[in-house]
Amino acid sequence: MPDGRSARMDDAASRRMRPAASDFAAPLREAWYYALPSRGLRRLTMISRLMLGEPILIGRDERGSIFALRDLCPHRGMPLSAGNFDGREIECCYHGWRFDTRGQCVMIPSLVPGQRFAPGHIHTRLYPAREVQGNIWVFFGENMGAAPEIPVLDGFDNCAPDLVESVRFSAAIDHAVVGLMDPAHGPFVHRAWWWRSRRSIQQKAKAFSPSPFGFTMLRHAPSHNSRAYRLLGGAPETEIVFRLPSVRIEQIRAGRQRVANLTAITPIDDRVAEVSHCVYWTLPRLGLLKPALRRYVRAFLYQDRDIMERQQQGLRFDPPLTLIDDADTQAKWYYRLKREYLRACAEKRPFENPVEPRTLEWRS
Ligand code: FES
Ligand SMILES: [Fe+2]
Repeated sequence: MPDGRSARMDDAASRRMRPAASDFAAPLREAWYYALPSRGLRRLTMISRLMLGEPILIGRDERGSIFALRDLCPHRGMPLSAGNFDGREIECCYHGWRFDTRGQCVMIPSLVPGQRFAPGHIHTRLYPAREVQGNIWVFFGENMGAAPEIPVLDGFDNCAPDLVESVRFSAAIDHAVVGLMDPAHGPFVHRAWWWRSRRSIQQKAKAFSPSPFGFTMLRHAPSHNSRAYRLLGGAPETEIVFRLPSVRIEQIRAGRQRVANLTAITPIDDRVAEVSHCVYWTLPRLGLLKPALRRYVRAFLYQDRDIMERQQQGLRFDPPLTLIDDADTQAKWYYRLKREYLRACAEKRPFENPVEPRTLEWRS
């Protein structure tokens, strides 16, 4: 137990770290966010998503290219995704205005010859959208050049994820991200016979260094108290990267084999975040274990979702929160990274990573 003095110091330090201002708690803009796996969007189809509180239509045209538009008709606000799409143009279901895949209005059926209204003045917003390693990402902001890149997993160049699970958390983005990088909740939240028990708690030391728009837990052998790694055989080593706005990449190597976990959190609105977990692997035998693996990933995500839902009951009272060294240092880094990114964008200057190389120790 900390003595009274150090507890007070921790309190004071944590108050300084506390992301109280509502503008700071808002999701970062000038960033790519995960939308859905590529296989969820067939040619000539479109879907509607809420991302960062904005209605987004994501479609795949006749040539197979994806696009993203604001999902609102500029005429009377009808969701365009409720209309028809022929692979080239979207027809609004209300009055039939037609839009191309860049969001430009190309036809207004009610116009009669001689009426001078030009559809060319009308458009709905076009969002940059990209497909990378079997996933679709959408950019929110104005300056893609200065933003963190969409993550690319080593050794999976033209691959799609072997498994994707998405779960919605009733949590604002910061709590979802801090939960994702929290090393101390494992033995309490993710207790299960196939993963670990509460008694398996042990002291750990992990070396970290800054990496682009985030930090990296350097390559190390995973804890012996994590049973699932044993499936891989060999002597697995893992490296975990966090990158703004809300991406975690775990790359595990065991001999020539690789497994990668990409976890991306997308703010749906101010109160809900969607966590998407994509697993890539090279081991053919993991394919046989896919149904079991899916159950395992789901169970893990549901445990996080349930704990966050319970946390919301407390957060309604806006209590002061505490971030301690070293178990919460990654959370402190996240808040610092986010703050620096907001400042760098506002001041139109390059981002300066505030993370210093350091070894963190905790029991988990
Ligand atoms: S609301 Fe879309 S055409 Fe009228
Ligand atoms: Fe968790």
